[in-house]
Amino acid sequence: MTEVYGSQAARRVAEAMREKLQVQAPVLAMILGSGLGKVAASLESPRKVPYGDVPGFPKVSVAGHAGEATVGKLEGREVVVFSGRPHMYEGNAASMVAFPVRVLHALGAKVLFLSNAAGGIRRSYRAGDLMIIEDHINLMSQNPLTGPLQEGDDRFPDMSEAYDAQLRKLMREAAPELSVTVHEGVYAGLSGPSYETKAEIRMLERLGADAVGMSTVPEVIVARALGMRVAAVSCIANVASGLSSLPVSHSEVLDTTGRVSDQFVKLIRGLVRAL
Ligand code: HPA
Repeated sequence: MTEVYGSQAARRVAEAMREKLQVQAPVLAMILGSGLGKVAASLESPRKVPYGDVPGFPKVSVAGHAGEATVGKLEGREVVVFSGRPHMYEGNAASMVAFPVRVLHALGAKVLFLSNAAGGIRRSYRAGDLMIIEDHINLMSQNPLTGPLQEGDDRFPDMSEAYDAQLRKLMREAAPELSVTVHEGVYAGLSGPSYETKAEIRMLERLGADAVGMSTVPEVIVARALGMRVAAVSCIANVASGLSSLPVSHSEVLDTTGRVSDQFVKLIRGLVRAL
C-alpha cells in the first residue's frame, strides 16, 4: 500500500492533474468533506476534473462527496479544491486516505486546508456551529506513515503544533463576519463507519475531545511529514451520540453541512485574503 500511495506515485498523478487543470502556483490547497463542496462552485475561472479521469487517483464513494478536483481563483488567488476524499471506512489504508495530500504537495501547495463533518461532544456545541481544529487525537488504529520512508517525508514528524497557530488566528479573525458560532477545539478521529455508542462518547469526552469524526487525521499527519502548514475546520453536523434524544444519521449530517455551506465559504475567503 505504502509503495502504491507514496511520493513517486503522487508526482505522477500531480503531473497528470497539472496538465488537465493548468495548475500554476496555488496559495492554498483544500480537501473538503461531506456537503461542504460549495467552495469549488464559488471559484472564478474554474477548471475541473473528476477523480475518476485521473489515472492513479483513489476512488471515493459516499453520498455528499463530489469526487472531483477544481482549480480556480478565490479572492484573486489561485487555489486547488479536492471535493470529496477516500475514507478508512471504505476499507482503505491510512496511507491511501492521505494520498491526495501528497498529490497537492506535488502540485506545489504549501498550505493545506481540510474540512469535515463531525459530531459535537462539548456540551455547548450545536448542530450548524463550526469548530476550528486546534489539535487531534488519533483513534483510527493506523498511522499513514507506517512503512518505508517516502521521499520528502520527515520520519518522525513533530505533532505538537500540527494545526498552524497563525492560520488558526487568521480564521478566528474571520469568524465575526460569519453568522454562525465558531469554536476552537480538539477533534477525535475514529475509523467508523458506525457512529459512536453513548459510552464511547462519554469516553471521548473524558479523553479531551470536543468533536468526533471519521477523517482528517491521516491527511494532517502526512501534511506535517511533508512540512505543509495545516488549517482545519469541522462543521458540527449533529450533537454526538447520547447527547440528544435523536439518533445520529448521515442525512442529518448532509442537511446541516448544506445549511452552513455559505458561512463556510466566507470563512475560507477570509483565510485566503489574509494569506
Ligand atoms: N460521529 C462521527 N462522525 C461524524 C459524526 C458523528 O456523530 N457526525 C458527522 N460525522
